[in-house]
Amino acid sequence: MEIIIADTQEEMSKIAADMIERQLLRKPSSVLGLATGSTPVGTYEQLVRRHKEEGLDFSKVITFNLDEYLDLSPSHEQSYRYFMDHHLFNHINVDPKNIHVPYGHAGEVEEFCEWYEDEIKRAGGIDVQILGIGADGHIAFNEPGSSLGSRTRLKTLTRQTIEDNARFFDNLDEVPRFAITMGVGTILEAKEIIILANGAKKAEIVAEAIEGPITAQVSASALQMHRQVTVIVDAEAGSKLKRADYYRWIFEEKKRLVPRLIGKVT
Ligand code: GLP
Repeated sequence: MEIIIADTQEEMSKIAADMIERQLLRKPSSVLGLATGSTPVGTYEQLVRRHKEEGLDFSKVITFNLDEYLDLSPSHEQSYRYFMDHHLFNHINVDPKNIHVPYGHAGEVEEFCEWYEDEIKRAGGIDVQILGIGADGHIAFNEPGSSLGSRTRLKTLTRQTIEDNARFFDNLDEVPRFAITMGVGTILEAKEIIILANGAKKAEIVAEAIEGPITAQVSASALQMHRQVTVIVDAEAGSKLKRADYYRWIFEEKKRLVPRLIGKVT
C-alpha cells in the first residue's frame, strides 16, 4: 500500500483528483468506482472544476457507485443517487446511460445484485475505485463481519452507522436500516483503489485498517491484500499511524525524485 499523509483535507482531495485525472488522460473510457459520504466531496469539487475550467473529459467514462439505501428512490434527497447528481454528475459531461448507482426494492434485490455484478464485468471491471471509511471500518456498507469474499448484496446497517448517517435525515427513525452494497470481494477486484479519510474521528480506525491485522471485523483491512492501493489521509486522520514518519518520508522523496510515481506502490 502507498500511504500519503496530506497536510490538509484540501491537499488530500487534490492528490486524489490528480490521480483520477491522470487515469482519465491515460484511458478516457475508464470505469470509475465512486463513493458517497462527506470524505470524497472535495475530490468531486476538484474534478468538476477541472472539467469546467480545463476541459477534463468524462464523455466516455463509465461509473459504478458502491452502495445505496434500500427502497430509497433516486429523487429522495438523502439517496446516494441524489448525492452523486448534486456533487458530481450534474456538473460534468458523463453520459447518463453510463452511470450506475444501485437501486432496488426488497422484493427483487437478489436479481438486482446479480445484474449489478454482471454490469461491472460487462464494462470490463473497475479501473479505479474511490473509497471512504466508516467509523467502524466499513468500506461501502460492508459492516463488521462482512465476508472478505462478499459480493453485491443486501446488508443490514449497524446501529453506529445508522446514528452516523442520521445527520443527513430529519430524525433517526428515517434512516434506512438496509442497503445494497458492493461486497468486499467486488471491491478487491478493482484494478486500483484509492481510499480517503479525513478528520480526527477517523484516526483510530485508519490505523487499525492499515496497520492492524486483516479481519472481517474491519472490512477496510482487506485492502492490505490488494496490489495497488493508495491511502490518502489528512494529518488528523493519519495521526495514529505508527509508521507515519516512514510514510511521510516516502511521499517527500517521491515528490522530489519521481512525482509520476505518487499513487503507484513502490
Ligand atoms: C457511508 C458510506 C461509505 C462512506 C462512509 C463514511 O456509510 N456507505 O461509503 O465511506 O459513509 O462517510 P463519511 O465520508 O461521511 O465519513
